[in-house]
Parts: sequence; structure tokens; C-alpha cells
Amino acid sequence: MASSFFFFHFLSFFVIFLIIIKVSQVHGKGTVVNIQDFGALPDGKTDSSQAILKAWSQACKSKVGGTIFIPPGTFLLNTVTFSGPCNGPTIFNVNGVLRAPTGNSRYEYWILFQHINGLTINGKGSLDGQGPSAWSLYNVKANSRHPPSSIKFNDMSNVLIQSITSINSKFFHYQIDGSQGIHFEDVTITAPGDSPNTDGIHIGNSNDTIIHKAKISTGDDCISIGPGTSNIHISEVYCGPGHGISIGSLGKYQNEADVNGVVVRDCTLVRTQNGLRIKSWAPSPPSKVFNVTFEDIDVNHVENPIIIDQQYCPHSTCSKQGGESQVQISNVKFINIRGTSASKVGVVLNCSKSFRCQGIEIRDLDLTFNGHEITATCSNANINFYGQQIAAPICT
Ligand SMILES: *[C@@H]1O[C@H](CO)[C@@H](O)[C@H](O)[C@H]1NC(C)=O
Ligand SMILES: *[C@@H]1O[C@H](CO)[C@@H](O)[C@H](O)[C@H]1NC(C)=O
Ligand SMILES: *[C@@H]1O[C@H](CO)[C@@H](O)[C@H](O)[C@H]1NC(C)=O
Repeated sequence: MASSFFFFHFLSFFVIFLIIIKVSQVHGKGTVVNIQDFGALPDGKTDSSQAILKAWSQACKSKVGGTIFIPPGTFLLNTVTFSGPCNGPTIFNVNGVLRAPTGNSRYEYWILFQHINGLTINGKGSLDGQGPSAWSLYNVKANSRHPPSSIKFNDMSNVLIQSITSINSKFFHYQIDGSQGIHFEDVTITAPGDSPNTDGIHIGNSNDTIIHKAKISTGDDCISIGPGTSNIHISEVYCGPGHGISIGSLGKYQNEADVNGVVVRDCTLVRTQNGLRIKSWAPSPPSKVFNVTFEDIDVNHVENPIIIDQQYCPHSTCSKQGGESQVQISNVKFINIRGTSASKVGVVLNCSKSFRCQGIEIRDLDLTFNGHEITATCSNANINFYGQQIAAPICT
């Protein structure tokens, strides 16, 4: 009798203890604001924008830090801007699905985060950009307004994006601009291989970026690195389908800032259009790309495993203008790139006639095409080969 009484009490204390642990795990420190307390409805149809914006402003105001809690369920969210500065660290905790409206938009983003220092976006949930409703509306050649990127960061610092999934963006999935210290950890990005311009992560004018452990399947570049990017570390990224990991396009506009300090290592690319690419428009105004290392990369049936293309001109109009790219590429290392190429020419180094590539290093290359050696085509490039070259193409 007495023992079952004590057991019962022990059990209830234990249950309360578990509940306390659970609550603190979900909510962490600081103020927790549930969007449903402001009227958000998980029915996938009711516009929950105002509720989510109110939850944001409450969490952002909190001096001890605030969490916007998005519970399971599908919430329709219109074009929104989450603006800082916030009074403490802010957490955007996504457990359900945030769904974009369908069709095109007059904005260049669906969700904009700006002027915030110290933001975490995490949770097991996802952001559904509703891309299929907009992909056919954009005509690149007609220069029509492009659809919105799903998530844009502008003037952000110290941001962690962890575990969440981005599905079917209308344009880029993530667009990072003018920011510092953006860290992606264990994110998933997914869109069909034939969806237009659905770059996974595009970074420009930003410092100190980390992308670690991402799975990216999309219709354009898995990661694209634009002008003004410095110190970016990319590792353990799986890319495919997609167009690979790309520096560029560079040289489209006047006065672009340089790209400096790119490290890409331990990545896997499967059935992508390109592997590791640097591209600049021709003709183009001057800028620089330097201090780039691609190391320990597995490619599996990749169309252009290694490609530097300084005659980039996708729409045939620019080729008629003539003239060279003035983007100076130097100090680029390709170390231990191994696997299979889907084309015979596995290495393309087409540099600018007026600004030759300087200090290109290729070390321990191991690439085959249909079980045979690949070939290489190189122009205007100063290349050094080192180490063991298996199926080595030598350009001079
Ligand atoms: C990047 O770093 C440089 C040098 O520290 C700094 O001048 C610049 O403002 C930074 N840019 C951004 C977007 O943080
Ligand atoms: C090259 O880039 C790496 C990674 O961003 C950086 O740590 C290093 O300082 C850079 N080296 C030079 C000489 O700029
Ligand atoms: C690279 O240059 C060669 C020789 O000029 C040319 O045949 C080839 O099409 C070029 N490749 C690319 C991808 O631009």
C-alpha cells in the first residue's frame, strides 16, 4: 500500500519533471510568443501575416531574447519584412509549414529579414515558396520582373539557420546581401531539377559565411557566390540535381567588389550540370577573384566537374558586343577532385585574353569519363599541376 503510494508520487513528480524539461527544450530562454495566441490559423488558407508580425514585434522587443514559436500546421504567410534591431537574441522557431501566396509578386522576396544582429531560424519545419505557381511567369530573355526569392537577408549579422527545409522557391531559396556572420547548419533545400533560377543559397556583399552540412537539390546553382563576398567556408554539402557550386556570375555591373577567401571542402555533387565553377561575363568591367580553394570533392556523373568560364554569355545577345572580361582570377586551387565526369572534357579553363588566370593549381586530380581519361581545354591560364595525376589532362 505504502509503496504504491510512494510510487504514484514518484511517478507524478517524474512526469512534472519531464514536462519542465520538455518546455525548456522547446522554448529555451527568454520570452516565447506562440503565433496562434495572435490569431494565426494552421489551416493553410487563412492569411496569418498580421499574427506572425505581431508575434515578431513582441519577441524582438524582449530584452532577455524572444522566440517566435510556429507550431505544427500549415500557415499562409504573405510577403513580410521582419526588421530589427531587436533588444535581445531572437529565435524564429519553425515547427510547421510557412506557405507563400501563389503567383508573382511586386517584391523581390517573400520573407525579408533586415537590420538584425543575433537571429536564429530553426526547427523541424519548412518554408514552402509555392514555386510551381510562378516558374512559368518569368521570361529571362524578355527581361521581365523575376519572381521573389523565398528568404532574403539584408544587413544582418550573427545569424544561425539550422535544420529547417526550404521547398520550391519561386526564384532563389536564400538570398544573402550586405551581411556578416551568416551560418547555415544542416539545412535542406529542395526544388525540381528543371525549375528556373531556383538557386539554393546566393551570397553577395557579405563577410564570414559558413555553410555546413546542407542537402541541396534544385534547378540552378546549389550555392552561388556573387561580387563582394569574402571569407566563406562551405563544407559537407550534397548538391544534386542542380548547377553545382559557383563563383559568379561576375562582371555584369560596374564597380563590383572583389571575391576573396572561398573554401569549399568535403562536398559531393551528383548529376549536376557543373561541379566547381567560376564564371564572368564578357565583356565585363574590372574586378578580382582570388584566394579560392576547392578540396576533397566527390563528383558523380557531373557534366563540367571543373570549369572556369570567362566568356559567360547565356543569352547570345552579349556575344555580339565582343570584348573581354576584365575580371582577374588568381590563386585558385583544385585539390583532390575525384569521381566521374559526364562529358569527355572534364576540365575547362577558359580565361580572359586580357586578364589571364594566374596561379591556378591542380593537385591530385582523379576524374574519368565512361571509364576513360578525361580531356581538358585551357586558354589564357597559368596552371601548375602537382601530386599524383590520375587521368591527368595537361594544358599549358
Ligand atoms: C566586410 O568586412 C570589411 C572589412 O572588415 C568591412 O569593411 C565591410 O563593411 C564588411 N562588409 C559587411 C557586409 O559586413
Ligand atoms: C584566404 O582565405 C582564407 C579563407 O577565407 C582566409 O582565412 C585567409 O586569410 C585568406 N588569405 C589571404 C592571403 O587573404
Ligand atoms: C572553351 O574554349 C574552347 C576553345 O576556345 C571552346 O571550344 C569551348 O567551347 C569553350 N568552352 C566553354 C564552356 O566556354
